[in-house]
Amino acid sequence: MEVFLGDGIFNSDGEIWKRQRKTASFEFSSKKLRDFSTVVFRGHALQLGQIVSHSADTREPIEMQDLFSRLTLDSICKVGFGVELGVLAPSLPDNPFAIAFDNVNVIVTMRFSDPFWKLKRLLNVGDEASLKKSAKVIDEFIYRVIHSRRSEIQDSRAFQNSDQLKPDLLSRFIELGENPANQMNEKTLRDIVLNFIIAGRDTTAATLSWFIYMMALHPDIAERVFEELKQFEQSLELGSLKNSIVADQQSFNESLEKFAELLNHETLASLTYLHATLTETLRLYPAVPLVIVINVYTK
Ligand code: HEM
Repeated sequence: MEVFLGDGIFNSDGEIWKRQRKTASFEFSSKKLRDFSTVVFRGHALQLGQIVSHSADTREPIEMQDLFSRLTLDSICKVGFGVELGVLAPSLPDNPFAIAFDNVNVIVTMRFSDPFWKLKRLLNVGDEASLKKSAKVIDEFIYRVIHSRRSEIQDSRAFQNSDQLKPDLLSRFIELGENPANQMNEKTLRDIVLNFIIAGRDTTAATLSWFIYMMALHPDIAERVFEELKQFEQSLELGSLKNSIVADQQSFNESLEKFAELLNHETLASLTYLHATLTETLRLYPAVPLVIVINVYTK
């Protein structure tokens, strides 16, 4: 997995893993990152809501799995390194980084069941040739982003404007890496950020896909989820969701936007039935069903 995960949190052990784990858990509990990721996920969820409401209006079928993958990729890239990839735009565009990312993910995983992958790599043929090209696309993209975040941080220091500092994870790690005790070169930063994208993207997209599937199979449960959302909204003295069901598409989107404004880290905690349906979905369809533990410390 080295070509993809490098020395990131998933692919390392001992001190390297420990350092990343410690920094990551500290960063993820910071209010700045939490608030930023709430706003980012909420914004992209609204974009998705508009695509879904358009489809309901025109009766055109949509592929929810693909849409959720686009939603989570756009969201995690924004939180991870401050880039708006835009694969969830209404035209559902292709993006070279997104294509390369998926390609590398599939090919490195297939290595586990392909006894000839090393030979293919040696001869630079087939999947391994394709992997090499895609890995280059990913690296060029990420290193470009790292350089631009670095210069933004330097500029904001030069102009003493700390408000301009981006709240994304990469910017936070660049700043931390400037402390000689932390020692982070470009490759380390690349590995850290890429591992977070891998960790958060497919897991979240797969869980949301199963959740929608569960709601489709169990309309009575979907109705109870909807009831909870309506009550939640009423408790905050807004009635947009209740009135939006029969509305035209534009008013539906407007009420969706109003509703979304109510959602943040704190208010979401009161949606216990929704939480229960999501955790039950995870129990039935776990996004990471198997964690292989190899004891590297045995002598
Ligand atoms: C439905 C969503 C998710 C599921 C089911 C899930 C599940 C898991 C599981 C089972 C592990 C392995 C834990 C272990 O080895 O003990 C893991 C590790 C990890 N997850 Fe998630 N995850 C999800 C979402 C996310 C998100 C959104 C992020 C952050 C962007 C994230 C970041 C990580 C990281 C960094 C690790 C590695 C921790 C370490 O090795 O120390 N995950 N996840």
